[in-house]
Amino acid sequence: MILNLLKKAGLAIVSLLVVAIILFWSDIKGLYYFLEESEQHASTLANLNEEQKLALECVICHGDKGDGTSSFYPKLAGLSANYIEKQLHEFRSNERVNLPMRSIANIFNDEEIRTLAEYFAKQTPSKTVHQGVSVDDIAKGELLVQKGACASCHGPDLKGQEGFPRIGGQSALYLQNQLKAFKSGTRIDKTGSMAGMVAQFNEQELAEIAAYLTSL
Ligand code: HEC
Ligand code: HEC
Repeated sequence: MILNLLKKAGLAIVSLLVVAIILFWSDIKGLYYFLEESEQHASTLANLNEEQKLALECVICHGDKGDGTSSFYPKLAGLSANYIEKQLHEFRSNERVNLPMRSIANIFNDEEIRTLAEYFAKQTPSKTVHQGVSVDDIAKGELLVQKGACASCHGPDLKGQEGFPRIGGQSALYLQNQLKAFKSGTRIDKTGSMAGMVAQFNEQELAEIAAYLTSL
């Protein structure tokens, strides 16, 4: 009698288990994959070196290796280390005003900022392909860039040179915002060059300049 009851209870438990496994199979599988992925993620993280770990804080906006495809966020790949370092210090001290970048730059000490700057400087930027830039604007922008003699500071092909950032191939909307900021005085170039440069152009012309620069 007792044996029979036990048998029945055992059978009931086994059936319940089978039903539970069938019902929750996708969750059980999900948990397995989740655990496996976490393990892989942890081992990928462990394989990253110090500079790559620091740079993880930047990829969400500036793209993998600072070579983003957004027209709003600047590409960091290929900017000089000294320039990147200077900008991060200026974001931190709020001399260059940008709230997200101020909070981010505040997380790092001077040494980490230098490490980040060197990391992004040695990445190679890919060709920028931004939609929404018209061929007509690019052609007009080219003439304006010649008129402004931008290459005299920003280097041949506007790829940058010591003391002057690369502006050729930079993100379109970002460039336009910076040119407007120099014009309105919300971004100050301490060498005094950029304010004078942009003063000669109206907003439409600044957009054309940005269109040409991004196409390089
Ligand atoms: C939440 C988004 C976000 C994250 C994360 C972020 N940035 Fe930025 N970053 C921006 C924006 C927006 C700008 C443009 C600021 C402006 O308009 O002046 C910018 C600008 C910059 C510039 C100036 C580029 C130039 O051409 O002058 C540097 C350098 C920079 N970021 C470095 C970093 C680094 C290094 C990290 C990671 C430690 C990082 N950023 C993380 C949003 C972000
Ligand atoms: C006399 C030298 C000089 C000339 C000429 C010059 N610039 Fe600049 N430009 C600078 C300097 C210096 C900076 C960096 C300012 C800083 O450190 O924040 C700069 C920064 C910039 C930036 C911001 C880049 C970034 O990544 O945020 C843009 C855009 C720019 N210049 C566009 C132009 C254009 C367009 C022209 C021509 C119409 C031009 N510049 C001519 C000196 C010059």
